Amino acid sequence: MADLHVVILAAGKGTRMKSALPKVLHRVAGLPMIEHVLGASAALGPRSTTLVVGHQAEAVRAALSTHPGLTFVVQEPQLGTAHALLTTEPAFRGARGTLVLLSGDVPLLSAGTLKTLVDRHESAGASATVVTAIVDQPDGYGRVVRAGQEIARIVEHRDANEAERAIGEINAGIYAFAIDGLFAALGAIASENAQGEYYLPDIVALYRKRGLGVGTFTVADANEIKGINSRVELAAVSRIVRQTKNQTLMAAGVTIEDPATTYVDPYVEVGPDTVIHPGVSLEGRTTIGTGCEIHSGARIVDSTLGDRVIIRNHCVIGSSTIENDASVGPFAHLRFGNVIAERAHVGNFVELKKATLGPGSKSMHLTYLGDTTVGSGVNIGAGTITCNYDGVSKQQTTIEDGAFVGSDTQLIAPVTVGKGAYIGTGTTVREDIPAGALAVSAGKQRNIPGWVDERKKKRTKS
Ligand code: UD1
Ligand code: CA
Repeated sequence: MADLHVVILAAGKGTRMKSALPKVLHRVAGLPMIEHVLGASAALGPRSTTLVVGHQAEAVRAALSTHPGLTFVVQEPQLGTAHALLTTEPAFRGARGTLVLLSGDVPLLSAGTLKTLVDRHESAGASATVVTAIVDQPDGYGRVVRAGQEIARIVEHRDANEAERAIGEINAGIYAFAIDGLFAALGAIASENAQGEYYLPDIVALYRKRGLGVGTFTVADANEIKGINSRVELAAVSRIVRQTKNQTLMAAGVTIEDPATTYVDPYVEVGPDTVIHPGVSLEGRTTIGTGCEIHSGARIVDSTLGDRVIIRNHCVIGSSTIENDASVGPFAHLRFGNVIAERAHVGNFVELKKATLGPGSKSMHLTYLGDTTVGSGVNIGAGTITCNYDGVSKQQTTIEDGAFVGSDTQLIAPVTVGKGAYIGTGTTVREDIPAGALAVSAGKQRNIPGWVDERKKKRTKS
């Protein structure tokens, strides 16, 4: 195989998105669309990957700062796709082999399709190979005009006449080029067209005129090469990604009651016999074990769930770990950094932040636990609040194994509740409680007999 280089075009303004955000950073199923393109491209194992940026170049560069080995080339001003590729010329001085040209706004292209493109291009010894697709609605795309079997040229939608617009074969905007002679040819492309831009697809007619070999590779699944130019197309492409992900999960043994309303990001993993109810979002790097039940309205982000975990309706869970046989919700908010150990239970209207709930412990109602470590077999009563913030910094609360926290307790951190200790209802805990002790802070109750009648009398008088 010859040397392989990838260039991705991402300098355009994306006018039709009507957005302050660069087009390639708009998310498709949770990931910026450019990340999908980079994922497919990486599977080719290219010798170099060059991104052409221009409009909001800094924002794009910053968003991709964690990618090693990306070369950024700035195209300024943006004079069209041929001009965009031409700006990378200095990066390819003396380079040989194959250049694969990808579009930052065509995110569904699979690694397999790219590999086939390269294989076909190289085995045919072509100067250029164009990826095409047959579609029902070719509007907006460049049309492939053939002379007999061979591709003759590509005409952009805006420049096409009625007969050309009726052509159903479109240019995907993805190509393989022999690097040899490519940049010299790009320099010969003119901008006499509806947009006054230098069109990369014009290289086809140019090469044919020079008698150079131009091949085509028509993808079997036209969905793969859908481009995103508007919010409507963004939604359409996102829907395809979600459908594919849901189908993969179902094929692997996950029940998805309503795939149309189930949003699972590409890197999420779910084990077999887990049941996902309608309206669930599983996002980021989330992993879910086997036999779990995720009820409607749950949103789970960057979290790990063990086996047989139950997430009841309308929970929001971020960066947390929930171990085997635990349950959460309904209406619980696990903000981040929480560990719910095996068989532990979190109930309704409970907020947790950096809280660890030990094995078999329960916090069932109306509670806030922040910066808290709870041991095993602990019962946290309704309305328990850790007062973890003293106005300056966050303080730690520790509740040891087997403790019983009565309802409406406030724990003023830093504080430790010893093993097996009891806290009476309505206690404000300001000091550590030794193991086995009972803590109460409320004063003795006072009853004032006849108080209600007395008050009534006073009121009628005045
Ligand atoms: C392009 C093709 C069209 C094809 C379609 C497939 C051209 C002229 N037309 O049209 O034949 O059917 O893709 O999706 O190439 N870009 C730059 N610099 C520029 C202009 C564009 O980097 O000066 C980038 C854009 O950011 C985008 C890509 O190139 O990522 C394609 O540009 P876009 O304007 O979206 O082209 P289309 O009209 O979709
Ligand atoms: Ca486009």
